[in-house]
Amino acid sequence: MPVAKQAEIKPAEGKLGVLLVGLGAVSTTFIAGVEAIKKGFAQPIGSLTQMGTIRLGKRTDNRVPLIKDLVPLADLKDLVFGAWDIFPDSAYDAALNAGVLEKELLAQLKEPLRKIKPMKAVFDQSYVKRLSGTNVKTGKNKFELAEQLIDEIAEWKRKNKCSRVVMIWAASTEVFLKPHAVHKTLESFEKAMRENHKAIAPSMIYAYAALKSGIPFANGAPNLTVDIPAMMTLADKNKLAICGKDFKTGQTLMKTIIAPGLKSRMLGLHGWYSTNILGNRDGEVLDDPDSFKTKEESKLSVLEYILQPEVYPTLYKDFSHVVRINYYPPRGDNKEGWDNIDIFGWLGYPMQIKIDFLCRDSILAAPIVLDLALFLDLAQRAGMKGVQEWLSFYFKSPQTAPGLYPEHDIFIQLMKLKNTLRHLRGEDLITHLGLEYYD
Ligand SMILES: NC(=O)c1ccc[n+]([C@@H]2O[C@H](COP(=O)([O-])OP(=O)(O)OC[C@H]3O[C@@H](n4cnc5c(N)ncnc54)[C@H](O)[C@@H]3O)[C@@H](O)[C@H]2O)c1
Repeated sequence: MPVAKQAEIKPAEGKLGVLLVGLGAVSTTFIAGVEAIKKGFAQPIGSLTQMGTIRLGKRTDNRVPLIKDLVPLADLKDLVFGAWDIFPDSAYDAALNAGVLEKELLAQLKEPLRKIKPMKAVFDQSYVKRLSGTNVKTGKNKFELAEQLIDEIAEWKRKNKCSRVVMIWAASTEVFLKPHAVHKTLESFEKAMRENHKAIAPSMIYAYAALKSGIPFANGAPNLTVDIPAMMTLADKNKLAICGKDFKTGQTLMKTIIAPGLKSRMLGLHGWYSTNILGNRDGEVLDDPDSFKTKEESKLSVLEYILQPEVYPTLYKDFSHVVRINYYPPRGDNKEGWDNIDIFGWLGYPMQIKIDFLCRDSILAAPIVLDLALFLDLAQRAGMKGVQEWLSFYFKSPQTAPGLYPEHDIFIQLMKLKNTLRHLRGEDLITHLGLEYYD
């Protein structure tokens, strides 16, 4: 991720293509939201790139610009959307089907949304068992499918007159895959694609096509995808930014807000039980134990890293952490996440915290997609290549350099993100030491 202080950042000229893999609840809520914001119907709430400010210099300097005024980000009016999905529905029909946004709002956005028709997907049901669709590419082997994607991306970019493109995986969670020997090098990966090896999931084929096409890639699901050596090598070689995995919304967002607070006050934890009811298509896919396993791994790691039981055995050794997702259709996208947190304080006295988060999954995810699209494009124009750890803020299971443990504490993640922006602009980093005010 190396980048020079006060790096030269190319201007955000021309149109930025945002290619989304999956045109489901998250993608359509994101696209419809941007169109609504462009028309002045709504505000970009939840988006740091649109609403966030950044303090520069000393607290007494009163320099607090908007982030988008500090770094050159693409303007919303310059975004162009494209997508792949296994269902042929337009973004309008897919949004109606997802049932996140009201029909009345969607009716006002019908024109731009109907124009977005998904391209045929690279799909194999053995990786997402609960889905089957007809809008799917055919090819001799996985390598040939990647070549089809590469041609399609070039054609899409040309037709839509984009000067730059980013790709974001917002498609279903694939079955759990462990890193495999064929993921080690680019050569072994390409050979495995030609041999239709089962360790190559569809998400990896999209990521490979993006990186071959000079396009940075973000992974919104917990799949391995770009988190393998072959993809890191390719990103590095082609000087492209990559990041992942799994958008941090709902329950994990709450966990990474609350756990650092408990730890900061040296409060102990006996257990954290999390359960959800969710009725959208994501919930249906996660009802399959193999897809859930991928999600579970992503959700479970958070507390261990934040609480550091090996450093604080008296407080955090052997706490019990359980995560459940229950598919319950009547709830649609309006997930309910319950947490029961058994903590202990002074002299070991037990206490409990109960959280009942009536959240809306895609409403929380959409601004993340926007921010990732804009920040990935910024990273690319600033010459930042490889894993973008400063974007950990947006992920449940942040991708890091090999051998480096991920930082999950949301407050540290935000400081890392903002300091990266300050660094890019040659501004002083903020350490919060503050001794200068008392000299
Ligand atoms: N909403 C959230 O808060 C949130 C948070 C973290 C991660 N995620 C992840 O984001 C992803 C999208 O979530 P969603 O709620 O939009 O789900 P969704 O089921 O509504 O949409 C996913 C879409 O991807 C399509 N798809 C599946 N495999 C595909 C492939 N190989 N190529 C192209 N399209 C494919 C499906 O047909 C579906 O339309 C899921 O993996 C989910 O786990 C969502």
